[in-house]
Amino acid sequence: MVLVKSFKVAGGPQEENGYTTSKYNYETTSVEVNGDSAVVNTGVQELEFRMKQHVPKTGLMLVGLGGSNGTTLSAGLLANQQGIEWERTDGTCRPNFFGSVTQATTVRLGTNPEGEDIYAPFSALVPLVRPEDKSNFVIGGWDINKDNMADAMKKAGVIDVTLQQQLREQMSKVTPLPSPFDIEFVAENQKDRADNVITKEYAKEILGQDFSDFSGRRWYVEVIKKQIEQYKAANECEQIVVLWTANTECFAPILDGVNTTEAELLSSLCDDEKCKYIAPSSLFAIAAIELNVPFVNGSPQNTLVPGLIEYAVNKGAMIGGDDFKSGQTKMKSVLTDFLVSAGIKPTCIASYNHLGNNDGLNLSSPAQFRSKEITKANVVDDIVASNDILYKREGEPEKPDHCIVIKYLKYVGDSKRAMDEYTSEIFLRGKNTIVLHNTCEDSLLAAPIIMDLGILAEMLTRLEVRTPNGEWENFHPVMNTLSYLCKAPRVPDHTPIINALPAQRACLENILRCVAGLPCETNMRLENRVMGMMREKGTLPK
Ligand SMILES: NC(=O)c1ccc[n+]([C@@H]2O[C@H](COP(=O)([O-])OP(=O)(O)OC[C@H]3O[C@@H](n4cnc5c(N)ncnc54)[C@H](O)[C@@H]3O)[C@@H](O)[C@H]2O)c1
Repeated sequence: MVLVKSFKVAGGPQEENGYTTSKYNYETTSVEVNGDSAVVNTGVQELEFRMKQHVPKTGLMLVGLGGSNGTTLSAGLLANQQGIEWERTDGTCRPNFFGSVTQATTVRLGTNPEGEDIYAPFSALVPLVRPEDKSNFVIGGWDINKDNMADAMKKAGVIDVTLQQQLREQMSKVTPLPSPFDIEFVAENQKDRADNVITKEYAKEILGQDFSDFSGRRWYVEVIKKQIEQYKAANECEQIVVLWTANTECFAPILDGVNTTEAELLSSLCDDEKCKYIAPSSLFAIAAIELNVPFVNGSPQNTLVPGLIEYAVNKGAMIGGDDFKSGQTKMKSVLTDFLVSAGIKPTCIASYNHLGNNDGLNLSSPAQFRSKEITKANVVDDIVASNDILYKREGEPEKPDHCIVIKYLKYVGDSKRAMDEYTSEIFLRGKNTIVLHNTCEDSLLAAPIIMDLGILAEMLTRLEVRTPNGEWENFHPVMNTLSYLCKAPRVPDHTPIINALPAQRACLENILRCVAGLPCETNMRLENRVMGMMREKGTLPK
């Protein structure tokens, strides 16, 4: 295997007017089902992709900056950007971006004349934000807790102490921005953290004395917009991405007259009673939509209520989520896909977790746990529904028994334990039970995913596509291309949710391959199987 740093496709994409443009023949199928059989019509759609070459300096603004994820990503970025090394009993550590699909994975370009596979970094496919370069990528954001970032990092207890010591001085200079807080949406046990919240005095200061309408929650949105604009200007950013990595909220009720349409949502925002149903996370999403900056929800709650989705779609503002797919669920979306696609029938999946960080404490409250349970539970649905040979569909559709438990055990801190048991039916009703035990620092898994979400959301703002007679257009504002990184992927209305991790990864890679002018990766590798082709290539004598 050979890794090259960059590549050019001969006769490939055109570069002009600041865009890279490539042509792609998209093969389509449409299926007419008639009873037990079907007619498949194949077709080819000629598409063009283009991407702005200039990668803007991007500010990733995290809501929940002072939490375990926020401090871990901040420290990790600084260590990478400044090449800081640190000592541990097992030796000297050098910073890396392991766990990041954009920074630590490769794509296969093809084979060289000697028959060796040649790979390139994923990040060489298209121009992407460079997280190792502080002139191109910065991080900031909000927290309801006013600890400076060094103290918050210490409390989170994730980063090695010898690295913390080297970062302490610069991180202690950063304090998160004040944020809206509503105890009705998070666990009661979070109340004491809230000492950095947006008050009317703060609002008056930041918005100027003429702002006077403090009814409803619209004023919070105006404050958040102002904070984003000020951060953007102060850090000389050309693009901002807002991402919620604050505490899991309970689900907001979806109520007629309150949040089912854009008009309802915007009117509820100014109504003293109805605004109580608009969660803090939704306030951030509304602000981002109004500034046309991408918003991603990294927690499980339904921040993106129907009225908010309608608003984003009408404004063409990018939104995505929900809930980072970091550990147990990621494994589940691989293992279940493997079992079902091998013709094995998972019948019972039991998933236990215990963790002792602040996320675990918040999730020890039933309403917040319920949000997590929902996103974790649906992950096998589409995989199960893809195989009617294994699962009966008549009457009540058959599904595996599936249970999720999360317990708070302070002692283990961020080092989450996940225990899973998968029982499946195999040949002649035999049973196969697989048991997994995973121990891992939760935030070290989540931080690279958060960074990737920021990088890919920015990239999607520069990606356009058109059909022969059509106009250039961005992908749909609901960013389902981010599914690979999300536990409960948000998709445009009336489109299927894909949970299987290999399919999600292939989708992301293949879209970027098309933009780069590379063929999609089919894994057919006929040049290694068909003797005529092998002779042509020289791997068999002529
Ligand atoms: N770590 C993972 O692997 C992982 C995976 C999937 C999802 N998540 C989700 O990511 C979120 C963050 O996880 P964490 O471990 O960093 O949690 P954490 O509790 O350490 O951090 C959350 C931070 O959000 C702040 N906060 C709460 N409400 C806020 C508000 N209204 N505005 C601004 N800040 C607010 C808290 O003060 C806290 O500092 C959780 O919802 C968690 O479920 C984490």
